[in-house]
Amino acid sequence: MSKNFENVELSFRERLQKISNVKELEEIKVQFLGKKGELAQFMKQLKELSNEKKAEIGKSVNRLKELFQEKIEHRREELKQGEYEHRMQQEWIDITTDPFHTEPGSLHPVTVVQQKLEDAFMAMGFQVLDGPHIETEYYNFEALNIAEHHPARDMQDTFYFEDGHLLRTHTSPIQIRGMERLKPPLRIVGPGKVFRCERTDASHDSCFHQFEGMMIDRDISVAHLIYFMKTMLGEVFDSEVEVRLRPGYFPFVEPGFELDMRCLLCQGAGCKFCKRVGWIELIGCGMVHPNVLRSGNIDPLVYSGFAFGIGIDRLAMMKYDITDIRPLHGGNLNFTRCFTVL
Ligand code: PHE
Repeated sequence: MSKNFENVELSFRERLQKISNVKELEEIKVQFLGKKGELAQFMKQLKELSNEKKAEIGKSVNRLKELFQEKIEHRREELKQGEYEHRMQQEWIDITTDPFHTEPGSLHPVTVVQQKLEDAFMAMGFQVLDGPHIETEYYNFEALNIAEHHPARDMQDTFYFEDGHLLRTHTSPIQIRGMERLKPPLRIVGPGKVFRCERTDASHDSCFHQFEGMMIDRDISVAHLIYFMKTMLGEVFDSEVEVRLRPGYFPFVEPGFELDMRCLLCQGAGCKFCKRVGWIELIGCGMVHPNVLRSGNIDPLVYSGFAFGIGIDRLAMMKYDITDIRPLHGGNLNFTRCFTVL
């Protein structure tokens, strides 16, 4: 009989070791302490024994009963603790983080200026058009009156693909695509990235941004051009500006001009900013060349128009007093955040 007690105790201990949850614990409880359990079996046998033996066995059964109960409750506590720790691992949240803290984004200086320009022109009845960065030679050069061996191609060297495509050197192809799609009278602007094979320095980068515009109607003259340029610059710099035209060469306009703005810092007296000349060269522009109108299926005997192109990065640099173009395209948020408004 005592051998049996030992066996029961041993198997109880082994089972208890192996279990991993409370459900199994309850099963063990039933198996050993339940009405039909192992200990109950011993009690059943008591009837047939002498009083002396009864007392002895009864004592042993009670000892085991207490032992089992104690071990089971102890194991229950262990399991509870284990489950708690497991849940802590699975479900922990870092209460030191602030879920409501979000950093406000801000617009890039180039985007701010581009949007200002777009708004100004949309308010004057212009449509904003887009065009591909990867262009054909036709749209980037030929249709703009720059023939294959024309020296003007040298000034706008770019990156060529093996299939003859190229990265556009200016936003002027948007004009051609616009003319093809829209009938005159038309007012369009086309902002975007342009690319040139340049040696980079503080004022040159191989990628920069231009804002191009074109207006075509009957009897458009240089006076229209000057009006729109003055209005545009007034919007960007939030003040009245004075402009002047100098002759400038661009194959796609005739006559062609460089448009200068009187320096806003020294009012024309000459300062470091305007290199002591009092004027700042800003815009390439002119009256659209008849060959270009023809490329856009527009009759130059009926219609005329002006076109212009301006560097957005340059405007942003002037507006925010940035002296080097390269960090503008560097992607360093700490830099761009300094200059932008929401
Ligand atoms: N596309 C010219 C350039 O990149 C700018 C320009 C546009 C000049 C329209 C005249 C008219 O240099």
